[in-house]
Amino acid sequence: EKKGGPVVNTQQLVGDDLKDLKNNIRNLLGSGHPMLDTVSKYYFQADGKHIRPLIILLVAQATSLAPKKVHVSIKDSYEEIDTPISELNDFYIPTMGDNGNNTGSKSTSQAVASSTSGGINPIYAPRINHADQAFILPSQRRLGEIVEMIHTASLLHDDVIDGADKRRNLLSANESFGNKMAVLGGDFLLARASIALARLRNHEVTELISTVIANLVEGEFMQLRNGQVENGRNRDGKMTTFEYYMEKTYMKTASLISKSCRSSAVLGGASDEVSDIAYTYGKNIGLAFQLVDDMLDFTVSSAEFGKPVGADLKLGLATAPVLFAWEEYPELGKLIKRNFDQQGDVEMAWDLVLKSQGLAQTRKLAQIHCQRAIAAISQLPDSLAKTALIQLTEKVLDRKK
Ligand code: FPP
Ligand code: MG
Ligand code: MG
Repeated sequence: EKKGGPVVNTQQLVGDDLKDLKNNIRNLLGSGHPMLDTVSKYYFQADGKHIRPLIILLVAQATSLAPKKVHVSIKDSYEEIDTPISELNDFYIPTMGDNGNNTGSKSTSQAVASSTSGGINPIYAPRINHADQAFILPSQRRLGEIVEMIHTASLLHDDVIDGADKRRNLLSANESFGNKMAVLGGDFLLARASIALARLRNHEVTELISTVIANLVEGEFMQLRNGQVENGRNRDGKMTTFEYYMEKTYMKTASLISKSCRSSAVLGGASDEVSDIAYTYGKNIGLAFQLVDDMLDFTVSSAEFGKPVGADLKLGLATAPVLFAWEEYPELGKLIKRNFDQQGDVEMAWDLVLKSQGLAQTRKLAQIHCQRAIAAISQLPDSLAKTALIQLTEKVLDRKK
């Protein structure tokens, strides 16, 4: 399956940016309360894949050489985001004459003054790839951090909802600290991500990323009502069960990746056409990514996956492999409808899925979305990052964890 020349080393392209990611996030997260500090940083100690920031950084590079709508200089991009983070840790102390606008951070003018007087913090220094002149702006690097924080917040909440006991081969946060602290830790991540987002001073990106947060909740909410099917249609609406599943998949996974890719392009000043390309790439790789995730729930061991497998059926969820298998084995319908909640349902559904073409069909659908992602990104001018994005897409189908 190797096409398009030699494999691009993404480590060489964006490794330095990714290396700073966890440290930068820790700096965005400090809390005066030691326990809140611990809970909100907890999932960042494990070796996450950081697939979302990786994609954001590669899209930044790949779109940096494409047509622009506005010119964004590295200096502009730097000044907007660099408010010293330690300010966030000050407790709110009302003072005489306080007009209620004190959020515990410096005003923009003060922040800009301090950043210009001190010169560029090496953490935000631009890194230009000398092979093809592609580059990443500090704001795009910060976007990667914001998105990883939102993703992690959703995992903290998700593990509470799913009652998960493991995550990334660690005890889950809810298991370690209890549900209440896990939920609040997630809320805190969202709040700090929102502050960092506001500091990008880009209304379009604020709107995109805020919509992502809403979509994550909508996707999770759709999933709560997943099993409510009647004659192959979802009781809630006019969608077929499969359409409902794909909509849910967009909301819970692909919205974040697609709107992050668009945001990365927008921060770079990309033309509307280029932003659309970034969006289409992200949407399709996101859909493929989740379809493969739902397939792996049936095909890999929990030690390999780092989280429980067969989990979806046990949660009462009918994902793509089951919905495809249902076409071959109509008896699955009643199990899906009752959310696999009777003795032996999970085992029976498991066996039927493995006997059916469901897993192969899921893979085929994921492959179609991978092809669409590649078709979109191929329209950008050639760069190492573009090749890396194509190769990343080709690997989605083969991933094991
Ligand atoms: C993982 O799914 C979960 C998500 C992709 C999104 C979860 C969203 C919420 C809980 C809504 C709240 C959102 C925010 C932003 C706080 P999964 O359970 O299929 O995956 P897993 O196997 O990794 O647990
Ligand atoms: Mg889960
Ligand atoms: Mg879940």
